[in-house]
Formats: sequence, C-alpha cells, structure tokens
Amino acid sequence: MKHQEIKQRFGIVGNSSKLDQAISIALQIAPTDISALITGESGVGKESMPKIIHFNSQRKHNKYIAVNCGAIPEGTIDSELFGHEKGAFTGASDNRKGYFEVADSGTIFLDEVGELPLSTQVRLLRVLESGEFMKVGSSQVKKVDVRVIAATNVNIEDAISKGKFREDLYYRLNTINIKVPSLAERIEDIHLLFRKFSSDFADRYHIPPIRLKEEAVEILHSYSWPGNIRQLKNIVEQISAIEQDRSISLEILKNYIPKHNSTPILFRDEKLENDFSEREILYKVLFDMKNDLNDLKRVTKELMSSSQQQIDEEKTINHIIENSDKIIQKNKEEDLLLTLQEQEKILIEKALKRHQGRRKDAADELGISERTLYRKIKEYLL
Ligand SMILES: Nc1ncnc2c1ncn2[C@@H]1O[C@H](COP(=O)(O)OP(=O)(O)OP(=O)(O)O)[C@@H](O)[C@H]1O
Ligand SMILES: [Mg+2]
Repeated sequence: MKHQEIKQRFGIVGNSSKLDQAISIALQIAPTDISALITGESGVGKESMPKIIHFNSQRKHNKYIAVNCGAIPEGTIDSELFGHEKGAFTGASDNRKGYFEVADSGTIFLDEVGELPLSTQVRLLRVLESGEFMKVGSSQVKKVDVRVIAATNVNIEDAISKGKFREDLYYRLNTINIKVPSLAERIEDIHLLFRKFSSDFADRYHIPPIRLKEEAVEILHSYSWPGNIRQLKNIVEQISAIEQDRSISLEILKNYIPKHNSTPILFRDEKLENDFSEREILYKVLFDMKNDLNDLKRVTKELMSSSQQQIDEEKTINHIIENSDKIIQKNKEEDLLLTLQEQEKILIEKALKRHQGRRKDAADELGISERTLYRKIKEYLL
C-alpha cells in the first residue's frame, strides 16, 4: 500500500519486484542521514529516488536541491556548490552562497556525480565527513548539516581505476547503493509504461491515444531499450504524433524501433539521445504551431462578421493546418535538419529566457535532459 502511494505521488509507473526493491531501500534509509548512491543505466528514472528519500525524511520541510554536476562548467562548479567571496575571481562582484549553504538542514542531490572535477571531489569529501567547507576565496571554515544523495549512470569503479574519481569519496557516497533496474530487467512494466505515455500524450494534445495491436506487444518485450524509459517515452510520442491510425500494428511499430527500423532518418545520429531530443523538440514546435493555428481559427471565427470572408479565412487556416499535418508526415521522408536546428535554437533560446537562464527549468520545459541542453547551448553558442 505504502508503495502504491509513493508511486502515485512521484509519478512512478511499474510493478516489477526490482523496482519495488529500489523503492523499499529508499524508504528504509529515508529517516536516517545515510548517504546513498543511485546507480542505473541512462533513462531508468534515477531522479525519483532522492526525492522519495528526502520527502520521507525528517528533512522534508527543509530544502531539496538537485544539482546536475555534468551540466555545470568545471570553472564554476566549486562556486556553485560552496559559494564564493566577493573578488574571489574575475566577475565575482558579490558574495554568493553556494548550494550547500542554501540547503542547510536539507538534502542535496548530486546528479551525474562522476563528472565532478577532482578538486571539487576533495571539497565534497570534507563536507561529507565533517560538515565543513570554505567558500571559494575564503579561509573561513563554515559548517552545515546537509544530507547528500548522489547518482551516476557511469561505472564509477572504471573512473576510479582511471584516476578520475577518488576512491575514498566513492566509499563515502556509496554507503548504500540503490540500483534502479533497466527496462530489460522489468519487461512486465514496458507495456504498462507504453499505455501511460500514450494516454499522457493524448491528454496533452487532445487526440485519441494510440493502442498496440496484440501482435505488436511482443517486440516491445524483445527489444533491448538502451535508452530505457526515456527512449520508450520518445518512441510513444513519435508514434502518437505521426500515425493517423491509432491502432498500431506490428509492421508500424517496427518502423520506430531502431533494430527493426526501415526509415533510418528517425535514428540518424549515433547517439540515440541526440536524436530523440531533436525529434521531441520538432514535434513540440509542430504541435504548438498547430495549436496556435487552431486558436487563431477560433478567434477569427468569433471576430469575423462577414460570413463569406469567414469562410475564406477558415479555408486558408484549414489549409495551413493541413499543411502542418503534412509537414509531420513529410518529415518521415525528408531531411529537415537545417530548419530543425534553427527551430530548436529558437525554442531553446525562448525557454532559457522564460526561465531567466535556469537550465534545469528550461530543460524540464523542453523535455530534454539538462546535459543535452548544456551540449546544445555550446553547439549553438547561446
Ligand atoms: N517509473 C516511471 N514511470 C513513469 N515515468 C518514468 C519512470 N521512471 C522514469 N520516468 C520518466 O523517464 C524519463 C527519464 O527518467 P530520469 O530523468 O529520472 O532518468 P535518469 O535515470 O536520471 O537518466 P540519466 O542517467 O540519463 O540522467 C523522465 O521523463 C521520467 O519522468
Ligand atoms: Mg538523470
């Protein structure tokens, strides 16, 4: 029962025993102050675990701060985490509190902890062991009481053997390990997740949900899902956006699953994640466009007094809407990379502006990972 409530509250779908095991450990350690390391492949849903821990702990009324260590440039990470004194470096025009100070009495989630530079690892170990830290440019020792939960999708032991991660820090973080299972380890949940994403997408765009014909379910189970839930979600969105017939046959589904794919353009890049996020952004642009046009249609209808003019306007707008549908279809066959990138750049710029440059919020809005956003900001020189 408790598990069901937790799943509902944190938007977790699935009934597999490995998932339940991970949730049980999170709940068990929640009331303590023990650090934990969340591991699991990319896209398995690691980010819910630290939230479960924090919001079931005595710290729940205090701050929870999630920091994506992979998305913060190396030069500023110490200052972000521990703060800095005025004049500590060029551009440090004010004193600044770091996340550790802000999160005092609360919890910090260090996502992609394997990306931390070695010098930051030293500072982190100190704060974990004694609660002590110093702001950048200061020699005054400060004390905080912060619980640290970390996550990684890379093999930290490899990083240790390459001298990129401190072994002592690893042991300190990994007091408890919570392994979030991959989709391949929870096959029984795949169809359930498919249905959930299909219904979410249908609600969001006011269209009927897609359903799999019985014969199609088998491929869902036999495919390896290297991008896990994130990949599944993207595929469901692609199919939901493109296919007119909402009942999906085996043949149709095969087109979207990389191994069985017959329209390679959908999976052009080597790195799956890149392509998914680009697709996702494109669909958002097209759907937004379509929604805007539908709004426009409604407004025009209300405003138009002359009925003939209204009919003409409506025809034009309907034509544009049809065209946007065609663009979605056409995109299956044509290379729209250039416009795609332009659209993507504009969309990213807008999202960053809306969130005053806060990458985490912008990435959430765009439905891409913060790391992808960070890469794209660099790519587009934003
Ligand atoms: N059990 C679940 N039920 C429904 N949606 C889920 C579940 N687990 C994850 N998701 C969704 O899947 C996506 C990926 O999850 P998340 O960002 O937590 O992955 P991750 O393990 O942190 O991956 P990475 O290592 O690449 O950062 C998110 O959109 C999340 O909302
Ligand atoms: Mg993550």
